[in-house]
Amino acid sequence: MVTGAAGFIGSHLVERLLSEGHEVVGVDAFTSYYSRESKERNLSAVMGETGFELLEGDLLTLDPDELLLGIDAVFHLAGEPGVRRSWGGAFGRYMERNVLTTQRLLEAASGNEMRFVYVSSSSVYGGDAGGPVSEDHPRRPASPYGMSKLAAEELVELYRRERGIPATVLRYFTVYGPRQRPEMALARFLFAARKGRPVEIFGDGEQVRDMTYVLDAVEATAASLEAEPGVYNVGGGTRATVNEMLDVVRRVTGSDVEARYGPVAAGDVRSTWADSRRAARELGYLPQTSLEEGVAAQAEWARRESPLAGKT
Ligand code: NAD
Ligand code: UGA
Repeated sequence: MVTGAAGFIGSHLVERLLSEGHEVVGVDAFTSYYSRESKERNLSAVMGETGFELLEGDLLTLDPDELLLGIDAVFHLAGEPGVRRSWGGAFGRYMERNVLTTQRLLEAASGNEMRFVYVSSSSVYGGDAGGPVSEDHPRRPASPYGMSKLAAEELVELYRRERGIPATVLRYFTVYGPRQRPEMALARFLFAARKGRPVEIFGDGEQVRDMTYVLDAVEATAASLEAEPGVYNVGGGTRATVNEMLDVVRRVTGSDVEARYGPVAAGDVRSTWADSRRAARELGYLPQTSLEEGVAAQAEWARRESPLAGKT
């Protein structure tokens, strides 16, 4: 089962698992974080495929025991994703979609010996460590989103310890590539390049992200099914400032996008940097895609999609 199957990363994971011959049940509520149309397009390659079933529904209300009947492994990606939108009144959604959905699934998975893979985030660390962070680095989120992912991780650890669920936590670092969520930096920059509009950069643009190409992240995720349960960083091995990301967009699209600098966004960390050696050792994870190649693939996808793709 893949939860969040219609999302950016979940839809790639579904394709990957089907290509390995697995039968996959995808669950998604088509939340309004971004458009239903985009999410339906994400799934268009697998709808009607043998071995794939889509269950449209909300993990907050579906009966989790019924849902997990006959399932061998759960990849839990469904959630409310944005770092900067998680302040204020939005937080209830983060608690429900990130924490409560996880608890409901873990409760139903208890005693069933099914593998449980929780997709977490670099945002549990906070940032600015000054070097690569390993999985044992203290977790000090800088946003309510990061706190909700940390709370979900703690639930996974609790159910592993007390209920014996063979559970894995994968901490993805900023994922990009075809189908990237429309409010994320590269999706916005590519959209602006196509429209000949300026981009807004939050702060001075010198904040750094460890950038992970979506198919690399998916490779690590699929591999985690066969590996020892545990906590793994999944970073892309390419670090770039936001200004450098924009430069790559300019080179790939040939468009001289103008940058407008605004205030630093609350919750944004200065730098992320993954030590992914545990994933390399245990999952055979070796990111394959350079930022230039990955952005070119994302640009090509954005060009093929409707002119509205990438709009927020
Ligand atoms: P996404 O928004 O594209 O996908 C999430 C999907 O979950 C959406 O399709 C949404 O409709 C679905 N969903 C949300 N709440 C649900 C519920 N209650 N019931 C059923 N479905 C529900 O986001 P994404 O970027 O693909 O992220 C997937 C996961 O990876 C998230 O858990 C996110 O926190 C994590 N993550 C993403 C990144 C990244 O850079 N994109 C990095 C680190 C971690
Ligand atoms: C991403 C995902 O959105 C989160 O879901 C995920 O949990 C997180 O990675 C992670 O690694 O854990 P983020 O790194 O903020 O979060 O990714 P982007 O939205 O692509 O932003 C990257 C940087 O670009 C941020 O510093 C952001 O402030 C900046 N940005 C973004 C801009 O300057 N302008 C924009 O229009 C958008």
